[in-house]
Parts: sequence; C-alpha cells; structure tokens
Amino acid sequence: MLSETLLKNENGPIRLLQITDTHLFAPIEGALLGVPTLYSFQSVVEQVQQRTSDFSAILATGDISQDHTVESYQHFVNGIKPLEKPCYWLPGNHDYKPSMGGVFPSPQIRASEHLLIGKHWQLIILDSQVVGVPHGALSIEQLELLDKALTQYRTRYSLILLHHHPLPAGSAWLDQHQLKDNEHFWNVISKHSNVKGILCGHIHQELDRMINGVRLLATPSTCVQFLPDSDDFALDSQPPGWRTLDLLPNGDIDTEVHRLEHCNFSADVEAGGY
Ligand SMILES: [Fe+2]
Repeated sequence: MLSETLLKNENGPIRLLQITDTHLFAPIEGALLGVPTLYSFQSVVEQVQQRTSDFSAILATGDISQDHTVESYQHFVNGIKPLEKPCYWLPGNHDYKPSMGGVFPSPQIRASEHLLIGKHWQLIILDSQVVGVPHGALSIEQLELLDKALTQYRTRYSLILLHHHPLPAGSAWLDQHQLKDNEHFWNVISKHSNVKGILCGHIHQELDRMINGVRLLATPSTCVQFLPDSDDFALDSQPPGWRTLDLLPNGDIDTEVHRLEHCNFSADVEAGGY
C-alpha cells in the first residue's frame, strides 16, 4: 500500500477540493462536444481561487485526458499549479496510464493509494479502470487494499475514492458503464463500520445519496455535463463545476457543489453521443 500522511496533527475539520473529468487534449483548443476542455478547466481553477479557500488537498477523480497524450497530462499539471496544494489522482476509463506515468508524479501530484489525513480520517484511492472499455471493475488486489486499510485503521473515518459509480445513477446509457461486479465492493464495505463516504467522477453530474449509512457522492465535470435521469445519451446545459468536502472530526462530511458563474461554455446539446 502506497501510503502518505497529510496534516498529521490536525484535529479540526479538513477541507478538500474535488476536480473531476477534465478530459484534456494535447491541442489547447481541443473540445469535447463543443466545450474547449482546457479553457473550461482553467476557468474552474480561476474561480476556485476566487471562491474556495482553505482547502488542504485536491482530489482528481479520473478522466484527466481525452486523447491519451503526454501533453494533455502536462496541461493538467500546469493547470492546477496555481492552486498550490498537493493533488491525489486516480485513473478513469479515458485515462492512459503509460502517458500519465510520463508526467505524474510531479512535485504537486502524488501517486498514492492511501492517505492518512489529520487525526480522524483516511482516504483510500482505488483504481477502477478496465483498460479499453468504459465500465469499471476492481481487481482482487484493489479489494484487498480497501479491506486492509479499513481493517488496519479501523478507528479512522474513511472516504473511498474511485472513478466509476458503484450503483446505478438513474440513466441507462451511463449505468451500463458503472462499476461492474460491485457486490464485491459493497461486501467489503459492509464488513466495516468506519466508511463514511464514497466519492466518484464519471457521471458528469451531481449525486448525493445515502446507501446503508454510507454517503455516495459524484460531481460535475469541469467540461460537459450529462443530463440526470435520462435513459438515452443527453447533455445538460448546467455549467462546469467542482466540489468541496469538509471532513469533520465527528465523521460527518459537509459538502457542496460549486459551478462556474458567468460561464462562456455551452455544450452541443444536440449531440447524440460521445
Ligand atoms: Fe468523464
């Protein structure tokens, strides 16, 4: 287990920033369904700087690149630099680990599977990528990592990070690309009482649901949004966004989704797929 420690003696609330599904391209004008993804990502970073303070780390929950290039990952490194906080990442279905490995880790971006954060919390950072397909799955090694961290640090509240949503979100076209065989994941979680939250990307929309006492959260992309509760592919006209999470010393999570104000980006809502 690749572990790290952050804010070792912090006893109070800890604020984290989630940025997800940036879908960057090598060309700076590269666009996904009409949205230039580097520019929308940069606008998110600018508004984070103006509107979100005192966060201790950035969580990048996958689909960092859309075109598999080293250059797209370099855009991400350069893009989050102004936030001046450590960034923990995991791969999504669109990511290409050989290119990621050429750029990460960087001084700011950490390759970590496990983070002890403050006195009360741990983050478990899982890789749900199945190479070449949009759906996700967790290997036996990843499930063992999860079980081991939850067992070894049973007195710590736990937030689990993975790219794919581990239960249907309500859109048939997206739910076929969820975490497959997710009963194994839920079985591990049900053995432990210290799991407080699960944080995903992938569905490009806000989700906040309690599942057997565990809070399941997903977050808007920094580029295009998918329309909630739509069985067929459909885009939402909502602006790009991000999420803040306050991990409280009593195990609660205060969280909020933020979206771009004065947004200049509009996705091609007539698009039939991507
Ligand atoms: Fe995505």
